[in-house]
Amino acid sequence: MSLANYLRYQRQATGTKIVCEEGDCGACTVLLGKPQGDQLAYQPVNSCIQFLYQLDGAHVVTVEGLKVNGALNPVQEAMVNCHGAQCGYCTPGFVVTMCALFDPNLNPDSTEAKPVAACGSMTAQKVKDALTGNLCRCTGYEPIIRAGLSVDSSQITPLDDLYPVAPILAAYADLQAESILIETPPVNGNAAGRIFFGPVSVREAVAFKSQHPGTVIVSGGTDVGVVCNKRGLEPAVIMSASRLPDLDTIRLNTTDNESPTVSVGARVTLSALERFMESRVPELFKILNVFGAPQIKNAGTLAGNIANGSPIGDSLPFLMAMDAEVELSGLDGARRVNMNQLYTGYRKLDMKPDELIIRIYIPLPGPAELLKLYKVSKRKHLDISAFTAAIRLTQSTDGRIEAVRVAYGGVGPVVMRLPQTEAFLLGKDFTEAVFREGGKIARREITPISDVRGSSAFRLQLAENILLKFYLETCLENQDGRAAACP
Ligand SMILES: Cc1cc2nc3c(=O)[nH]c(=O)nc-3n(C[C@H](O)[C@H](O)[C@H](O)COP(=O)(O)OP(=O)(O)OC[C@H]3O[C@@H](n4cnc5c(N)ncnc54)[C@H](O)[C@@H]3O)c2cc1C
Ligand code: FES
Ligand code: FES
Repeated sequence: MSLANYLRYQRQATGTKIVCEEGDCGACTVLLGKPQGDQLAYQPVNSCIQFLYQLDGAHVVTVEGLKVNGALNPVQEAMVNCHGAQCGYCTPGFVVTMCALFDPNLNPDSTEAKPVAACGSMTAQKVKDALTGNLCRCTGYEPIIRAGLSVDSSQITPLDDLYPVAPILAAYADLQAESILIETPPVNGNAAGRIFFGPVSVREAVAFKSQHPGTVIVSGGTDVGVVCNKRGLEPAVIMSASRLPDLDTIRLNTTDNESPTVSVGARVTLSALERFMESRVPELFKILNVFGAPQIKNAGTLAGNIANGSPIGDSLPFLMAMDAEVELSGLDGARRVNMNQLYTGYRKLDMKPDELIIRIYIPLPGPAELLKLYKVSKRKHLDISAFTAAIRLTQSTDGRIEAVRVAYGGVGPVVMRLPQTEAFLLGKDFTEAVFREGGKIARREITPISDVRGSSAFRLQLAENILLKFYLETCLENQDGRAAACP
């Protein structure tokens, strides 16, 4: 059962609304608190694509739980004062997301959002960024943004004061240690019944998966949840990765001899990755910034994006261009597979039935490398890509192309490297003519389909143009004498 349905139908907490049921509108947003050291780290998530089995040992705060001493909190007051609601269907979702934005413990930046006297016309990118996952179809956004800007953050009661952390953590402590196995008897013609497993060690997870080869692993559930809600998937065997220890860490590994590598645990959320990469790989940060919406990134993981294997998965071109490696764990132990060898066909991975993704190792681009990532979609935010690209290049001191990697998504059944284009570019001078010719070769190397996101002809043109765009952008940005041939 989804959390949204549970709240509405079993707890009568009908403030949480269900509209799209696929993570797109934010009407069902709740705050999900998970233990992190001696804290509960709360983040807004879409409760329509969170299932109860993912939430063992987590604390959920709904819009009903945000009042302070029975009165509206400052965010709720601001929505009233600024006329931020008409039909009201989207309103609880906006309120919950905004409360996370202004809670000083959840978002240290919140104190920077200075209150203004009334519902003025000031804009604030932070309010807009926080609300990209909440859609309103009748009020319009201006009153809602004005409401955000009129909140006096000094009047906010932090969640930790509303719900003291210590007793919650004490109640959850025992839950963390034990795995959970739930087997339900056959119902409604489902002859085999259903099995749920929540392991607390990779060893248990591998053993279970080897005994149940059809197991559906659920990590953040942002892909699986949509398939369950919209395509009627009812997995007979589910394994939640949500309590696997040590997989929620990101580490920067530096040694004297090798270039730095970031290792990303399979439970690391896309939000955590976005924060980590902001200063380290600004190009990846740029792509993660337009990946889904905050609610999606607070639940979804890099491992899920890789395992889902979509030809338009936004992280994949980058991972291929960087020669990232995926660590898989199975009965025979762990092995690493280069991202460029991972996909064997449309959504097919070189992964044995007993294996699961444990970590991803990403070499960081060196200071002399040029890296650009592109996402083309109809809307800037909260949209699936029509086309994606990663181009990584090194120049020699005399300006020639010394090393190059080109990876495109949305142009075939899998995200792919373009070996003929790369071979053409290698050793050539860094000139506009070379990139124009490279674009023509790229066009011949792919076979995109037409679908709702773009026609084949559109994608072919993008594949050609993006190399020229790369050339022009890197010329403009290069201040240090490299790319000397640029006009
Ligand atoms: C509204 C919305 C917007 C979205 N926007 C984008 C976007 O902009 N760009 C984009 O690329 N994607 C987008 N997505 C898709 C999705 O959010 C991403 O693919 C996300 O990274 C999936 O991660 P997850 O942890 O939620 O995966 P899950 O749904 O938990 O799992 C996805 C798949 O991976 C498998 N899996 C998960 N963990 C493991 C593991 N450790 N080992 C082996 N297999 C595993 C699951 O069995 C499943 O097949 C969007 C989805 C929604 C609902
Ligand atoms: S109901 Fe639209 S995101 Fe959940
Ligand atoms: S108030 Fe009606 S959809 Fe937003």
